[in-house]
Amino acid sequence: ACPRSGPFRAGELALAVLRRKHNTTLKLLCRLAAEAVLSSPGGVLPHRDIIGQLPGQVLLASGGARLLLRRPSLDEYVLLMPRGPTIAYPKDISAMLMMMDIHPGDTVLESGSGSGAMSLFLSRAVGPKGRVLSYEIRDDHHSLAKKNYRHWRSAWEIGHMDEWPDNVEFILKDISTAAADMKSVTLDAVVLDMLNPQCALPVVHPSLKQGGVCAVYLANITQVIELLDRIRSCKLPFLCERIIEVTHRSWSVLPA
Ligand SMILES: C[S@@+](CC[C@H](N)C(=O)[O-])C[C@H]1O[C@@H](n2cnc3c(N)ncnc32)[C@H](O)[C@@H]1O
Repeated sequence: ACPRSGPFRAGELALAVLRRKHNTTLKLLCRLAAEAVLSSPGGVLPHRDIIGQLPGQVLLASGGARLLLRRPSLDEYVLLMPRGPTIAYPKDISAMLMMMDIHPGDTVLESGSGSGAMSLFLSRAVGPKGRVLSYEIRDDHHSLAKKNYRHWRSAWEIGHMDEWPDNVEFILKDISTAAADMKSVTLDAVVLDMLNPQCALPVVHPSLKQGGVCAVYLANITQVIELLDRIRSCKLPFLCERIIEVTHRSWSVLPA
């Protein structure tokens, strides 16, 4: 059997997809346990009816709802996992991973860890030979990011033949005070998703390899201008190459 081909096992994550009106879907995430039940608007489904089944099948809930059961993708997991601060959205993370041109084996710094969504995508992108240094100033966010990461990793290992890499170091520290940590690393890329990302630039730039990319995730144009102003006024050795907004347009195709 190849990875991801086996039946559901207790302890792994399952995603139930329920089709609703107007071509919309409801997605429910659960961690399978023999005694538990999955509750949906269309009735309940005992986990023991899912365990042992191959993913990709439709099972009937007690109220007659048809639930498609499969393993969640990473973007589905991060959208459904417990959240503290707002996550970087998977559509934006994909664009940032491309902008940073991250490869297996790379060392990447992120700040802040937040809920851990970006950390998980970075972990996958750099792979078992790579390393992610994830800084977070708040204790509660640091703990949540670690928990979400651990949860995904441990569930992954039950449902797949390969291990999820243990390559993220979650560091509880204000990035602006981390200059000493930077002396011992060379960073292939940096990603900042935090208030005042400009305060991190003087700290990370000595360790960022020549020509390396620092991707900054910002919510509005005022923040973009503040960042560019700081780079210019402090003569920081960064060049702004691109400012993009990522939009996704869904199509509804209804053959006659
Ligand atoms: C929007 S969240 C990051 C979300 C994260 N990218 C994700 O995908 O889940 C911003 C985080 O940056 C943290 N933060 C703010 N200033 C920081 C600093 N100076 N050093 C480290 N973390 C900081 C905040 O506490 C917060 O958890």
